Amino acid sequence: MNTSALKRSAALMFLLALVAGPVLVFLGPANAVSRNHYQTSRKNAGTPNSTKVTRNSSGQVVSYGNNSITYNAPSAALAQLGRALYLQNCATCHGDKANGVPADGTAGAYPNLIGVGPATVDFWIESGRMPAANPRTVQAARHVARLNHQQALAVAAWVDSLSPSLPLIPTPHLKNANVSDGAALFALNCAACHTIEGSGDALAANTYAPSLRNIPAFQVVEAIRTGPGNMPRFTGNLSDKQVNDIVKYVTTEIQHPNNPGGFGLGGLGPVAEGFIGLALGVGLLALLGYWVGERD
Ligand code: HEC
Ligand code: HEC
Repeated sequence: MNTSALKRSAALMFLLALVAGPVLVFLGPANAVSRNHYQTSRKNAGTPNSTKVTRNSSGQVVSYGNNSITYNAPSAALAQLGRALYLQNCATCHGDKANGVPADGTAGAYPNLIGVGPATVDFWIESGRMPAANPRTVQAARHVARLNHQQALAVAAWVDSLSPSLPLIPTPHLKNANVSDGAALFALNCAACHTIEGSGDALAANTYAPSLRNIPAFQVVEAIRTGPGNMPRFTGNLSDKQVNDIVKYVTTEIQHPNNPGGFGLGGLGPVAEGFIGLALGVGLLALLGYWVGERD
């Protein structure tokens, strides 16, 4: 083999690797993903965590709560508008009866929305996760919401009219919350997944706990009380007072940290901060060495 033939076969192998790599990467996960969609349980949806419960004339719970959090049913007057919005934006996947069966009749193709409670429907719409862009998504990501607050409540009202359930739409009263109790409760119940800085972290099987940096207070309550995706649902084990304390901690200390030590470096955690320290420290030393060495 002369050198030009050698060069040619080396170039060929390089090209092959260049093409084969991405093809393998592309095929790999497509075959690996075969997880069922997440489905919120209808059981243990959270009994009203307070003594003050208001019911309407047909006996349905329309509000409950206390001076930490109050929960209200979306107005039944919105249900007709909600039905129209639902048929436009949701029915292709979740089916026109909201039972998770699309028009082709495949049972269990999508999560069943009957009985998940208004706070669940509202959370998935207002966090922009729904309507999903990709029907095969394993973990729908947070986006700018496509429906506004009133429209989200309307869809929640209609879905809930099919089988009234809890939890209702929460309003936290943060002026009554204790932020240092919240910090301790957050460390105990949330930090394992979201990190103590609330910046989020990877979990198993291509899922992740998202960052909590930009989540409105009522949505933090909704997440805690409904348990989206791989997050556990916290019901009886956290009182409304405790949830309110946690929400105060998330919306103040986590979302507006004050860094007594100087720069926060984005709160990425000790490993990333260590690298920045290393790069700056060693980098400065190298520059110093260079400067000292050059002098003559
Ligand atoms: C393109 C298909 C698609 C459309 C359209 C869609 N969804 Fe979904 N929906 C999904 C998939 C897939 C999941 C599961 C995603 C996950 O687990 O992250 C899901 C999950 C949900 C959940 C969580 C279910 C649970 O068990 O907790 C709710 C609530 C929901 N959708 C409501 C809606 C509403 C309301 C609309 C319309 C505004 C809508 N979806 C539009 C596909 C869709
Ligand atoms: C076992 C891990 C785990 C624990 C513990 C946990 N979470 Fe989560 N959390 C998640 C995951 C996973 C998601 C994303 C769910 C999805 O999108 O399918 C999430 C989503 C959220 C969201 C919505 C963020 C967004 O992007 O819209 C909030 C808010 C939240 N969690 C707050 C909390 C709080 C507060 C606690 C403690 C009371 C907590 N979480 C405990 C895993 C966890």
